[in-house]
Amino acid sequence: MKFHLSLICTILSLNTGAQITWSADVAPILFENCVSCHRQDGIAPFSLITYTEAKLKAGEIEESVDSGEMPPWPADENYTHFAHELVLSDDERFKIAEWIADGLQAGDTTLVEAPTFEYGTSVLDTISSSFSIGTYTTQYNIDEYRHFVIPTGFATDKYFNTMEIIPGNWNLVHHVDIYLDNTNYSDSLDQLDTLAGFNELTGWPYLIDYIGGWSPGSGPLYFPENWGIKIAAGYDLVVQIHYAPDNIGLTDSTRINFSFVDDTAAVRKCSVSVPLYNPLGQPLIIPADSIITFKQQSSAMVGAKSLIALMPHMHMLGSSYTIWYETIAGDSVPVIDIPEWDFHWQYFYTLPKIMKIPSGARFHAIAVYDNTSDNPENPNDPPITVYEGAYTKDEMLMTFMALADYVPGDENIIIDSSFYFPTEVNSIDELSEFSLFPNPANKTVTIASNAFEEVDKCTITDVLGRNVLQINHTVSESSSQFFTNYKHCTLNTRYIYC
Ligand code: HEC
Repeated sequence: MKFHLSLICTILSLNTGAQITWSADVAPILFENCVSCHRQDGIAPFSLITYTEAKLKAGEIEESVDSGEMPPWPADENYTHFAHELVLSDDERFKIAEWIADGLQAGDTTLVEAPTFEYGTSVLDTISSSFSIGTYTTQYNIDEYRHFVIPTGFATDKYFNTMEIIPGNWNLVHHVDIYLDNTNYSDSLDQLDTLAGFNELTGWPYLIDYIGGWSPGSGPLYFPENWGIKIAAGYDLVVQIHYAPDNIGLTDSTRINFSFVDDTAAVRKCSVSVPLYNPLGQPLIIPADSIITFKQQSSAMVGAKSLIALMPHMHMLGSSYTIWYETIAGDSVPVIDIPEWDFHWQYFYTLPKIMKIPSGARFHAIAVYDNTSDNPENPNDPPITVYEGAYTKDEMLMTFMALADYVPGDENIIIDSSFYFPTEVNSIDELSEFSLFPNPANKTVTIASNAFEEVDKCTITDVLGRNVLQINHTVSESSSQFFTNYKHCTLNTRYIYC
């Protein structure tokens, strides 16, 4: 007999009624939702990888997850879901609280395999090309937009499937945006400045082809397998880094990692554009002591598009930002809602499944700014009228989107399978008979079950929905264990398919 199943909350079945421990219950939650930032060389101020580290911070952990402050995820998951969203379930929050109430039990720590991060601070499995800005020492105590020009040296066109930007100094780097230049114009400006890169005192570079960026908290920009953004042979990368004020004399050496699509003949071409830019029919001016709402509207899509990822962008006065699209027939489809804008957590949000935007549809948005002294992020005290501009104390209203021309079937491409069940799903009773441990796993994983005699094929997927393990033979033993070796991967706690 062959059947499909999905498993909700993997390790639950191993621990029914048992005491909550760090090893079995809490570590998987922290590994999946926290340690991408809370690790050595991560963005967060302390690591939460080991039992001792988690125990030390237990009270604060509970407080921060109960208040919703951690993990940081400004998008409202009740409006739309995104890939790899950092949202804890009630069950996960409950487990953390119970773990503390039960006296912070360690459990069997030998069973826990902490995720490792290869390539220094990178979280990627493969890196095809890696670039660095070199080392720059900040020269100012005010905001600086500095541009670094890096020749790629590519002899042929490349399509990147993943781009990871790793700021060299988390305290200094406000955001990074990456453009392409084939004119040598940016490079000539770079030559005029004796230090690494240049700023607007020398000139503004050629900033036409935008390929993606980083803001605090963003992870790598991923596209589906074989989809990618082109970096043509001979182009320079222009890396724009916004350095925060009051940091003179600090050094930064930001790095950019790419992994490329292998088969460039079959690649699905993606590009990043800004369909929503500035308010509809009026300039972006935010009067002092006002709370003001703006509408935005894109032009109509020419041909259907496939939306892969998007990054809404405002500065300190932003209060909320909601985006949807409307079809020619007048149907509204939700895209993203950020009910409490947080300047510090601006992500490139990737759809869990490609979103088809029909031909003729338009994106719409409503954005609210709070320029009163009740806004704790207001950079001006007392408030002053704020205009559109690139500096932190200015404002912006725009949304970057990674789009491709639509091909029938795109809307079925799943980027994060957590939200989608396999076509045939067995009942929860049957699901609870299977378990994966540890999870996330690094090299070895155990599948525990009493129902293996009924299985002839079993697939384990990682959080990107990629198959990491497939077992095709019939298993007769009950409570069998399989061991396998694969590169670092975070297993998808929510699914195994059998
Ligand atoms: C995207 C990166 C990121 C993720 C993911 C993340 N944190 Fe944090 N966390 C931070 C940063 C950065 C700070 C420091 C905040 C600051 O200085 O304002 C922080 C601060 C904290 C603090 C200190 C108290 C506070 O609220 O400022 C706790 C506790 C904490 N995080 C727990 C967690 C837990 C638990 C998770 C997972 C459930 C988590 N964090 C996920 C980045 C992250």
